[in-house]
Amino acid sequence: MDRLKRRHALVTGAASGIGRGTALRLAEEGAAVFCVDIAAEGAEDTAEQITSAGGTAAAAAVDVSDPSACEAGVAAALDALGGLDTLANVAGILRPGHTLEQDPAIWNATIAINLTGTFQMCRAALPHFVDREDGPVGGCAIVNIASAAALQGVPYNAAYCASKAGVLGLTKSLASEYARRGVRVNAICPGGVSTPMTAAGFPVDNIDPALFARITPQMPMIAEPTDIAALVAYLASDEARFMTGSGVTIDGGQLA
Ligand SMILES: NC(=O)c1ccc[n+]([C@@H]2O[C@H](COP(=O)([O-])OP(=O)(O)OC[C@H]3O[C@@H](n4cnc5c(N)ncnc54)[C@H](O)[C@@H]3O)[C@@H](O)[C@H]2O)c1
Repeated sequence: MDRLKRRHALVTGAASGIGRGTALRLAEEGAAVFCVDIAAEGAEDTAEQITSAGGTAAAAAVDVSDPSACEAGVAAALDALGGLDTLANVAGILRPGHTLEQDPAIWNATIAINLTGTFQMCRAALPHFVDREDGPVGGCAIVNIASAAALQGVPYNAAYCASKAGVLGLTKSLASEYARRGVRVNAICPGGVSTPMTAAGFPVDNIDPALFARITPQMPMIAEPTDIAALVAYLASDEARFMTGSGVTIDGGQLA
């Protein structure tokens, strides 16, 4: 379990759920981890969990929808860890609702955080990843958390589906552009994962439950953040050196 020894990783959304699970897993595999989230206390708590287990970590508050905060977050990671070669973009929001009734501000916020936030973090980190002679043998790595909702329509989630399909397109574009410059960019498309995001259930009135039949996993369980974190660790590691531009589903057969 030392695939990520000597690696320096920045994880967004690190205060909770999949982001926290990812930060802990990357650290378990040997990476020094910079934990960022709009929820500063939660990010610090994750970093504290890593350091008290003997790992190396630090934390900062970053709102990924703010481009200057993304730049500052990357600068702070470089300062705290002494390098950066791995970026996991996990931060995201889910605000379901009837499309015709939803405030357009929710569309804008969802795109700003899930899609533009991912782009802004990539844009801030990439100058430190390209053309590295001292980088990881498998290349510097970006892992973006998209969703099965990037590949399949989820009712009452127009903004979320659009943002996650955008993350997949962004991933493939960056992968093709930087493949020859030592950077791998992949996305993960999880189905349902047990996190605070999903714990609230589906707080929308007057929904048609029949519309959800298609977005149910075949396996009789829900994923845990550790399931997704294990895949992030693999994609970040040199074992995945020939993988770039992939959108890997991990959905209990939902899309099978
Ligand atoms: N839980 C699922 O079923 C599921 C399925 C597929 C994809 N995803 C995706 O996985 C990612 C993590 O989701 P989760 O389930 O762990 O949810 P979560 O709510 O537990 O965690 C999301 C984290 O993102 C942070 N965040 C929100 N807005 C931010 C901003 N502007 N700047 C920085 N941080 C911000 C939150 O504070 C929170 O800590 C999201 O991108 C989500 O869309 C989740």
